Amino acid sequence: MRKRVIAGNWKMNKTLTEATQFVDEVVKSIPADEKVEAIVCAPFPHLATLVEKTKGTNLKISAQNMHFEDNGAFTGEVSPVMLKDLGVSHVVIGHSERREYFAETDETVNKKTHAAFNHGLTPIVCVGETLEQREANETMSLVETQVKKALEGLTNDQVAQTIIAYEPVWAIGTGKTASNEDANEVCAHIRNVVKSLTDEATAEAVVIQYGGSVKPSNVDELLAQSDIDGALVGGASLEADSFLQLVEAGT
Ligand code: G3P
Repeated sequence: MRKRVIAGNWKMNKTLTEATQFVDEVVKSIPADEKVEAIVCAPFPHLATLVEKTKGTNLKISAQNMHFEDNGAFTGEVSPVMLKDLGVSHVVIGHSERREYFAETDETVNKKTHAAFNHGLTPIVCVGETLEQREANETMSLVETQVKKALEGLTNDQVAQTIIAYEPVWAIGTGKTASNEDANEVCAHIRNVVKSLTDEATAEAVVIQYGGSVKPSNVDELLAQSDIDGALVGGASLEADSFLQLVEAGT
């Protein structure tokens, strides 16, 4: 039985004061349920404080990106060694905004995924098609390529621990959600791709999230789908109340 993973991706939002207020409020009422894992993906400057504030609670803290090198002359970058040292547990890799605005490629996604495992971080690997790609019927092949390249060279055990987030780009921040059936079909396809790379047990273990305009009013039906194990949520994760409702839906 796979656990549900609800992750709030704040993107470039919230001051440290706002972030700590959110976390103080959320940890008071977050459900203690082993079936659901709750994660906040926060901006780099807030990570140390939030890790400290969430120690011993059921809320985990994730970074939104990192470099794949351990250290060196990479001005402005943050390494997996630094994240691990802070106590961060997860890292988002290959979000479509990073692919679009910061030249993230399938190759860097693969390097970062390896780097995450090398340093004991759980990667949340994002894949998903643009509207043009969907309209050209390229969704399945595109997502397949992205998944295969992201996971290349990982052991089955590492693949089983990877969280894959299917986020159709056209559904991000637009209020448009993929229909439950469409989202599930792509997530099921991703699981099949994982199976073809590994084995049945690994494919059954891997957590696959849907992301793209998820909110408290549509999360239940998405989580009811056979191959959707959680959600990666942007806008609706910014308010503590709404984030708690999303986590509650996972219980
Ligand atoms: O990573 C989460 C994401 O891109 C979805 O954003 O605002 O559509 O929930 P949003």
